[in-house]
Amino acid sequence: MRGGLVNVTLFGLGYVGTVTATCLAARGHRVVGVDTDPGKVAAVNAGRPPVIEPGLDELLAEVVGSGALRATESVRDSMQSSDLSLVCVGTPSAANGSTDLVQVSRVSSEIGAALAATKRPHTVVIRSTVPPGTVDAVIVPLLEAGSGRTVGTDLHVAMCPEFLREGSSVTDFFGPPFLIIGGSTAAAAAVRELFGFLDCSVHVVETRSAESVKYACNAFHALKVSFANELSRLYRMLDVDARQVMDVFVQDRQLNISPAYLRPGFAFGGSCLPKDLRSLLYLARMNSVDLPVLEASLASNEMLIREVADRILLAVDESGGHNRRVAMLGLSFKHNTDDLRESPNVALAEILIGKGLDVRIHDPVVNPAQLSGANLRYVQARLPHLHKVLHDDAADALDGAHVAVVSSASRDVVDAAVAAKPPVVLDFNGRLGTPIETLDGYEGVGW
Ligand SMILES: NC(=O)c1ccc[n+]([C@@H]2O[C@H](COP(=O)([O-])OP(=O)(O)OC[C@H]3O[C@@H](n4cnc5c(N)ncnc54)[C@H](O)[C@@H]3O)[C@@H](O)[C@H]2O)c1
Repeated sequence: MRGGLVNVTLFGLGYVGTVTATCLAARGHRVVGVDTDPGKVAAVNAGRPPVIEPGLDELLAEVVGSGALRATESVRDSMQSSDLSLVCVGTPSAANGSTDLVQVSRVSSEIGAALAATKRPHTVVIRSTVPPGTVDAVIVPLLEAGSGRTVGTDLHVAMCPEFLREGSSVTDFFGPPFLIIGGSTAAAAAVRELFGFLDCSVHVVETRSAESVKYACNAFHALKVSFANELSRLYRMLDVDARQVMDVFVQDRQLNISPAYLRPGFAFGGSCLPKDLRSLLYLARMNSVDLPVLEASLASNEMLIREVADRILLAVDESGGHNRRVAMLGLSFKHNTDDLRESPNVALAEILIGKGLDVRIHDPVVNPAQLSGANLRYVQARLPHLHKVLHDDAADALDGAHVAVVSSASRDVVDAAVAAKPPVVLDFNGRLGTPIETLDGYEGVGW
């Protein structure tokens, strides 16, 4: 990415704002920082950072000295010759856990009012962490009301979450994992120009996705810490050095530290994951160690199966309840295996049959004549009449069905579902392709 000089007004000289203002100024932009705290404004203008971060002192003194960065309490003054506003104000937790949007709302109104006094085109970039939907439902209306402009013409708005970590924020700022931009093409172009000096991938996504990525990242980081700590609490009791275990664990870049197992879809199952989780939880109980995160993983998995069963029952009821036929396309626990042990699809079929639905199943890989051993015993215990509900042909399973549940991505299965056009198509797979996703009754299991 390469960009030109941008006149930036940056709102909020806290941890994120001070580092961002300093680093942008150091890369050739002209930055005016705005804060309601006179102490922070005075500190910046005196060349002293209002927050402590390695490497920030020298850099800030340099850019304030050169005139590339200054600070003010006056919004109107800061917006005189501004091309772009960067919003870095706080979004703290309210007492009930919700996000307090008071600072973001106030700044949006102030930017709007300042823009009413000029005709200069402007882009507003939200860097603060805000819940999905905030930009469209809160920030855009305030900007439009204040400025009298309409977003999309001479006013553009982008969501561009920040990923720096306190303690290494200057280094993180110049080497982010990626640049995520939510917004229109014009808004994205302005953000690309601003961050033209960064050498990282750029992802332009829907605004709601950009807002949501930040929460996904932080939730995942918290989950990772809890995961490692829970294991270590159990392993310590078992005389296992958790540091050694995790040192080796992270070396696996194929399945552990990788995109594997991170696609939204249906529940996990199979002959290993549930069994081994239960085994760990048993060891924990025997050693009086609570492992709430790992326990929650099993509970969350079962919850998903029940929720999906309820969705299917609701879809049947809402259509009058006359057509109770449900086609399940895919029965094994994942694509391209005939292993039915602990398959969440078997559990789902069991619930639906128990609720009196007319379930018809097709799986391109499962052949009842070839099932044997524990696999056969498992399915016989749960679906004793499997041979009666299993169809060799996807079209037969789909015949007259009100709902199709599609987990297999086999070409025959997808083509048959597209041809049958059932009133409700529930996608468990997420990679079935456009023809099925454009069917009228299409729904993703989690999207
Ligand atoms: N701190 C981090 O490591 C980090 C990392 C990534 C993202 N974030 C997100 O970035 C945002 C800012 O975080 P922070 O830690 O820098 O917050 P902070 O509380 O340190 O700074 C916020 C600043 O905004 C100022 N402010 C409040 N209202 C204002 C107004 N109307 N006009 C101008 N300035 C105003 C405050 O005086 C304060 O200096 C938050 O949404 C946070 O979730 C933080």
